[in-house]
Amino acid sequence: MLLSYSQTKDLDQEFGSSFYLINVNKLRNNYFKIEKAFKSRYENFIIGYSYKTNYLPYLCKEMSKLGAYAEVVSRLEYDLALKIGVNPNKIIFNGPLKTYEDIKIALDNCSVLNIDSPYEVDYVLQYCKENQRNEVKLGIRVNFDISINGKSPLQEGYEISRFGICTANGDFQDTLKKLSQVKNIKIVGLHGHFSTSGRKVETYERITKGLCHLAKKYIKDTVEYIDIGGGFYGELPSSFELETPSFDDYAEAICKIMNIEFEYSECKPTLIIEPGIAMVANTFHFIAKVVETKQIRGQYFVLIDGSVHNIKPTLHKRNLPMQMVKQRDDTNLGTYHIVGYTCMEKDYLAYGIEGDIPDRGDYIIFDNVGAYTIVFNPPFIKERPSIVAMDNSDFFVVRKKESIKEFFNEDLYVFN
Ligand SMILES: Cc1ncc(COP(=O)(O)O)c(C=O)c1O
Repeated sequence: MLLSYSQTKDLDQEFGSSFYLINVNKLRNNYFKIEKAFKSRYENFIIGYSYKTNYLPYLCKEMSKLGAYAEVVSRLEYDLALKIGVNPNKIIFNGPLKTYEDIKIALDNCSVLNIDSPYEVDYVLQYCKENQRNEVKLGIRVNFDISINGKSPLQEGYEISRFGICTANGDFQDTLKKLSQVKNIKIVGLHGHFSTSGRKVETYERITKGLCHLAKKYIKDTVEYIDIGGGFYGELPSSFELETPSFDDYAEAICKIMNIEFEYSECKPTLIIEPGIAMVANTFHFIAKVVETKQIRGQYFVLIDGSVHNIKPTLHKRNLPMQMVKQRDDTNLGTYHIVGYTCMEKDYLAYGIEGDIPDRGDYIIFDNVGAYTIVFNPPFIKERPSIVAMDNSDFFVVRKKESIKEFFNEDLYVFN
């Protein structure tokens, strides 16, 4: 059990009757496990933590302390990285939408910049015109077919990814040509993140090979990094009953290809990965107090101080792994649903659970809520709850509970 009843009650009194709990040790362990798996097989290796997955500043800072680069996809995330003290040359600036100002700040600061579309080439050329003395290093996110046996592994079954510059229609080659006309530009990296539903090892083999072949063919003399993006499985709770690749499985396949492809290179390019889910999903819990257990036409509804938005902002139907912290020792077996405080019929945090029915004053702990919850959690009906860090036996707040002042920010809203 993560917490005893008296510990949970104490936390409730200090931080509110619902809150997130981040397990800092677990986060560090995830980082070390990923790093060890890859670095033991390919020395020149960098982890860029994907901010969008969970940009809690405390978490991002912890990642940076461990040695991770910041992988950002917007100026907001870029500025957050700067705000928490990340060295700008340890920021990887990706994403489909960048302004001229974004490109300028990334290049001025010598951040790792991966352009995603041909319009960004114009901005880079404009920057070079205005800054003729600076050497400009640049990466390109490339788009190529990663189907295996004619089947696309992309999420939602999409045939074609919408990201990156197409290598099949000549756009990539045109981009290289345009950029090569300016002598202070160096194309130093290729980026190839693909979001797939299966997160299979063979998909990463395909991506890594694709990037290596393009790098050897087009930027052989300047290549400094191969960035294969994120999208890996992390360690899943056993209740998911899914057999998934381990960090070692991914690393073995990817590093083997890197080692073979660059066997005869004097200076092997850096391998970059950008894990999000794999790094943080299992490091967060959401804890909420049971307010009521009522029976309606033979079914038990357990109302808690939380909402489906707190744990499953995508509103998927799967029940998450959870634990119950009971106030009393008695047991009352049955089937129940856990429902939230919003006025939506579909606000179910868990459906059709069989077991000991929670009672008023008990607490429910939902596990595995670290990815895309904090960032997708809309301020809907109620203020956002606090986030508490657990570092060994220390507990401390890393985001306070929101109040009406922050919810209706007086600098933003008009009240009369
Ligand atoms: C460019 C890029 N890198 C990394 C990631 C992280 O992916 P995941 O959280 O699945 O590891 C994403 C997610 O969409 C992404 O778009």
